[in-house]
Parts: sequence; structure tokens; C-alpha cells
Amino acid sequence: MAKRLLITGGAGFVGSNFTQYIMQKYPGYEIAILDAMTYAGSIDNLPAEMFSNEHPGYSFWHGDVRNPEIVNALVAGSDIVVHFAAETHVTRSIFDNRHFFETDVLGTQTVANAVQRAGKSIERFIHISTSEVYGTAVRNEIDEDHPLNPMSPYASAKCGADRLVYSYMATYDIPAVIVRPFNIFGPRQHLEKVIPRFITSVLRDEPMTVHGNGTAARDFVFVEDICRALDLLMHAPCEQVCGEVFNIATGKHWSINDIAEAVSEELHAVDEAKVENVIERPGQVTRHTGCARKITEQLGWKPSVSWREGLRRTIRWYQDNEPVWDKQVWLRKVPLNYTPGVTEYH
Ligand SMILES: NC(=O)c1ccc[n+]([C@@H]2O[C@H](COP(=O)([O-])OP(=O)(O)OC[C@H]3O[C@@H](n4cnc5c(N)ncnc54)[C@H](O)[C@@H]3O)[C@@H](O)[C@H]2O)c1
Repeated sequence: MAKRLLITGGAGFVGSNFTQYIMQKYPGYEIAILDAMTYAGSIDNLPAEMFSNEHPGYSFWHGDVRNPEIVNALVAGSDIVVHFAAETHVTRSIFDNRHFFETDVLGTQTVANAVQRAGKSIERFIHISTSEVYGTAVRNEIDEDHPLNPMSPYASAKCGADRLVYSYMATYDIPAVIVRPFNIFGPRQHLEKVIPRFITSVLRDEPMTVHGNGTAARDFVFVEDICRALDLLMHAPCEQVCGEVFNIATGKHWSINDIAEAVSEELHAVDEAKVENVIERPGQVTRHTGCARKITEQLGWKPSVSWREGLRRTIRWYQDNEPVWDKQVWLRKVPLNYTPGVTEYH
């Protein structure tokens, strides 16, 4: 049966990939996107069908997730809400964290209130949390029961939102699912994030900036695999997934140095690629490998795109779309003042 979806943050990296995935797989679904178009959102990210008269079932709403009027109205007209909208860049949260708490926590509260108010008409509320809520791993693999030790203002804001949704499930019995993806990569990711930053640095013949000694490691999931996982969580019976937390991870990790090396190899720049080491980012998570056993056992999800294949596809997109990402080059580095009077660019 056709569904009506509300996607918040649909003009960002993951939200736009998810929108495209849903349009292709479920052409009968109605889609409303709500996005405030911050520096991270772009009309360029959205499929042309979103704005075509031939597709009256698709609508774009320029608005803020903190605004209950627009959020209540859009949620009331939806069957499924997928909530991506957030401030997302760790380094920027160190530079100025106010927006992070306002959007990530209060924005989520506004969406969760609207879901609660809409009652039984909402089938599913997928809240996109993040593995950053766990902090550095205290055991080899991070499963959903790992302690929550957020280590940056971004991570703590997302942790607040994650627990807020949990409390609404416990108090109001809203049909929510909390999803904790590990690091996501793929086409259309903002240049401030490490993989696009490295790719575009090599393409522009500039050094790749590595924080600290580059040994901090993360579990990277290709964005298409994230979309498949969300699809399964959206369509699974509520008894199976509502009230639950699910990781999305590959169980493997790659260090910042591994990424720099792989990007140089793929771009045949091993001899020429330059690396510039800058001071370690405060609150850095040193090791972060996810366990996705729960979603694999319950819904049969497994990553299908290998790290190297995902990287190739991502590189190809940046090679083919320079006019799209060129406008973001100036946003790649964020000024940080650790020592009074000294500005470091991260
Ligand atoms: N990218 C990752 O590696 C990753 C990993 C785990 C979880 N996540 C989560 O996935 C979600 C999407 O991440 P992303 O990488 O696509 O982020 P992004 O920064 O690329 O996009 C965020 C989108 O949210 C919009 N937005 C920001 N503030 C808003 C507001 N107040 N109202 C409405 N829209 C607003 C922006 O305009 C943008 O389009 C986030 O919740 C993030 O925490 C991302």
C-alpha cells in the first residue's frame, strides 16, 4: 500500500540519498521534505522529480524542525516520519555548539511531540541517531547495550535527542525506532567531512589535513546500505522493531591514515599526494567498530557494498560533479581556538 513519508533534513547528504532511494524503489509513495536549508542543505542534492509538476505527490517545505506549526501540520499528513534533520559536524560543534542543542534536541522534541499528538495515524517514527553517542569503544565491538559516553557537543546533543525519543516511547508509547548508524559515506556528502575532504583535496592538488597522528579509526557504511536498512526498519512489523534501538555498521574499521592512503591509491596519486598533520581534535573518539548483529538477525540486513567499492563510487561522484561541490570548498575547514590568540583550522 502506498505510504506518505515525511523526511526531515532531506536536502542533506543522507536524507537526499534516502529520498532518491525511496523514489526509485516505491514510485507510488508520497514524499514531503522539510529542510531549513542551512549551509549543509542544498537544492542541488534533491532529485528533479521533487520540483516537477508531473509529481504532485512530492513536496518540498522550507522550514525549521523547531517550528511546531509546520512540523505538526506535516506530521499529521504522514504515515511514516524519518527524522534526519540535525546539525552534524563534530568540529563545528566545538567551534559553536548552540545550534546543535537547539536543532538536534529541541528539533527532535518538536517532531516527537507532533508524532505523539498525531496518535495512531502515525505508523512509524524513525529517529536517526548516531554511533557517536557511544564515544570511544570500551570493548572490541560496540553493540546497542554499550554505555553512552558522548565525547563532543555534537555527540551529546544527539545523545539527548536519542534518549528523548526513548523516553517518549516509554511514556507515550509512540511507534518509534532509534537507529544508530556508524560513519556514513557516499555521494553528496558535505566537504567538511573527512572522506569528501580528502577526495577533493587530492583532486585540487592540495594536502589532506590529518588530525593528530591519524590513528583514530571508524566503521564506515556506504550510504546505499544505510537506505536499505532504513527501508527494512520502516516496513517491518511494529511489534518487531518499535521501541528498539538498532545499530547499522559493518564490523570493520579504517583509520584516518588508511583513508588517506586509499584515496591516494584510487586517484593514482600515491607519490604526489600530500598530508598535512594538524593538532588532534579535542574529544576525538579513538576507536569505533560497530556490531550490527541485531539488525542482521532480526531483519536480514548486511552491508552489501565493500569499503573499497563504496570509496570508488564516491570518488567517481566527486570527479563528475565539481560544479556542485565547488561552492563548499571554503567550508571545509573550521577555525578552532584552543590556545588564546592562536587559531587552528580543522
Ligand atoms: N553522515 C554520517 O556519517 C552520519 C552518521 C550517523 C548518523 N548521522 C545522522 O544522520 C542524519 C543526517 O546526517 P547528514 O550527514 O545527512 O547531515 P547533513 O549535515 O548533510 O544534513 C543535515 C540536513 O538537515 C538540515 N537541517 C539542519 N538544521 C535544520 C533545522 N533546524 N530544521 C530543518 N532542517 C535542518 C540541513 O539543512 C541539512 O539538509 C543526522 O541526524 C546525523 O546526525 C549521520
